[in-house]
Amino acid sequence: MSYNAAVLTVSDKGAGGEREDISGALLARLLEEHGAVAVRRLIVPDEHGEIVAALRQLCQSGADLILTTGGTGLAPRDVTPEATLEVVTRAVPGISEAIRAASWAKTPRAMLSRGVSGIHGGTLIINFPGSPVACEESFAVIGPVLAHALEVLAGDASDCAAEKERPDDG
Ligand code: MTE
Repeated sequence: MSYNAAVLTVSDKGAGGEREDISGALLARLLEEHGAVAVRRLIVPDEHGEIVAALRQLCQSGADLILTTGGTGLAPRDVTPEATLEVVTRAVPGISEAIRAASWAKTPRAMLSRGVSGIHGGTLIINFPGSPVACEESFAVIGPVLAHALEVLAGDASDCAAEKERPDDG
């Protein structure tokens, strides 16, 4: 399936032009490899209001999926999860639980990401940590279920409950 996606990088240094947005570029490439037809990219500093405004703007522009990167940790300015929770109306905790569980097998520091996932209208929003390696590891977790998640969200998936065999979900 094809879908519209966006990547929102949350980084004071990135927004200030002091750091190259490697994670944003990496996620855009991975999304394109996984069926995204258009990947919009935005960078905002770690400011609650700016993150909320950017997420709402990307939802209104028709993104089916928004991946955020950065600002999920314990630092005083890490507020991406709180801003995301202000935008979403339905939480999808399993996605972030799966990301943390799989990442924990690679580094115990995975437990320090407070990332959340949820839905605003027809848009699925998922928080990833900021580092490129964390983005790559997190994307590997959601990649196999992405198409089905977006199909169900759009209302055009087959009835999962009626399936007699476990689907090929990676
Ligand atoms: N998740 C994965 N898969 N791989 C990682 O290397 N790093 C952790 C964690 N999640 C990491 C990870 C670290 S060190 C931190 S501090 C938190 O994500 C929060 O990162 P952020 O503040 O850049 O969002």
